[in-house]
Amino acid sequence: MRIIVTGGAGFIASHIVDAYVKEGHSLVVVDDLSSGIKRNVNPKASFVHLDIRDEKLDEVFKAGNFDVVNHHAAQMDVRKSVADPQFDASINVLGGLNVFECARRHGVRKIIFSSTGGAIYGEQDYFPADELHPLRPLSPYGITKLCTEKYLFYYKEVHGIDHVVLRYANVYGPRQNPHGEAGVVAIFANKMIRGEQAVINGDGKQTRDYTFVGDVVKANVAALSYRGSNIFNVGTGIEHDVNFLFDNLRVHLNQSLLEKHGPAKLGEQMRSVISHSKIHKELGWLPSVSLSDGLKITAEYFKKSVNN
Ligand SMILES: NC(=O)c1ccc[n+]([C@@H]2O[C@H](COP(=O)([O-])OP(=O)(O)OC[C@H]3O[C@@H](n4cnc5c(N)ncnc54)[C@H](O)[C@@H]3O)[C@@H](O)[C@H]2O)c1
Repeated sequence: MRIIVTGGAGFIASHIVDAYVKEGHSLVVVDDLSSGIKRNVNPKASFVHLDIRDEKLDEVFKAGNFDVVNHHAAQMDVRKSVADPQFDASINVLGGLNVFECARRHGVRKIIFSSTGGAIYGEQDYFPADELHPLRPLSPYGITKLCTEKYLFYYKEVHGIDHVVLRYANVYGPRQNPHGEAGVVAIFANKMIRGEQAVINGDGKQTRDYTFVGDVVKANVAALSYRGSNIFNVGTGIEHDVNFLFDNLRVHLNQSLLEKHGPAKLGEQMRSVISHSKIHKELGWLPSVSLSDGLKITAEYFKKSVNN
C-alpha cells in the first residue's frame, strides 16, 4: 500500500512507520519537526518537512496517490492547549481538515486517526470506559480530538472515506518526550538517570492506563486491513498510579532516591482507564507488554540516549 503518515517524526508515529516499512508498504512522512526529530524517520520512508496546515500539502497528495492516510500530527500537549486553545485548534482542527480535504481531492479511501482515550471521556462514570462512555473532554486538546472524530464521520457519510479511529490511553516507550499524555515516564526517567530528585504531584494516587508504544503500533498495523469504519479504544484496561511508576523506574534505573511529593496539580483527572474489549473482538488486538516490562525497555532507552 501507499501510505502517508503525518507526524511520522514523532514518538508514536515513527514506530508505526518502522512497522509499515517492515511490512513492505511504501511510506511518505509529513512532519514540521516542531516536536518530532528527523533521525526518528525510517530511512526507507520519504520525508517531507511541512506543516499540515500548509496548502503545499496538496502537491504531496497529488504526487503520492495514497491508499491510506495515517494521521498522527498534532499539538499534543494538554497544558499548552489550555494556555492557547486557538493555536491548538489551528493545528488539530484546521490542520486535520487540510489533511482530510487533500485526502478527499486525491481519492484516498481510508484514514487512520490517533484520538485519545485518556482525554476524550473526561471524569469517568465507570471503569474501565468503553467506547460508549459519555464524551466530556475537559481540555481544548480533548475537544479537538472529539471534533476531528466528528469530521471523520462526515467524510465517511458524505464522501465515502473509511476511518479507523484509535483512542489511545497514555502511551509510553522509547522516543517519547515529556509533553505527551504519559510524559511523566520520560520526566521521571530523565531526572533519575541524572541523579536528580523527581517530584510526584500530590499524593501520587492518580491513575492512568499506561500502554506500551509497541502495542499501539500493532493496533495501527491491524487497522490497515480492517474493512469499514469504526472507533476503538487502545489501552490495557489496567490502572496504575504515579507512585507505582516512580518505584518501578527507580528499581530499573538502580536509584535509591526516596519518593518526594509536591503540591497536587489543580484540576488533574484522578482516574483514567479504558476497556479494550471492542478492539479485541473486532481486530484481535490485546496488549502484550506489561507495565513493568515496558518501563524496563523505556528506562534502558533513556539510559542510552542520556549517555550519548
Ligand atoms: N502520547 C500519548 O500518550 C498519546 C495519547 C493519545 C493520543 N496521542 C496522539 O498521538 C499522536 C502522536 O503523539 P506523540 O505522543 O507521538 O507526540 P509527538 O509530539 O512525538 O508527535 C507529534 C508529531 O507531529 C508533528 N507535528 C506537530 N504539529 C505539526 C504540524 N502543524 N504539521 C506537521 N507536523 C506536526 C510533531 O513534530 C511530531 O513529530 C498525536 O496526535 C497525539 O495527540 C498521543
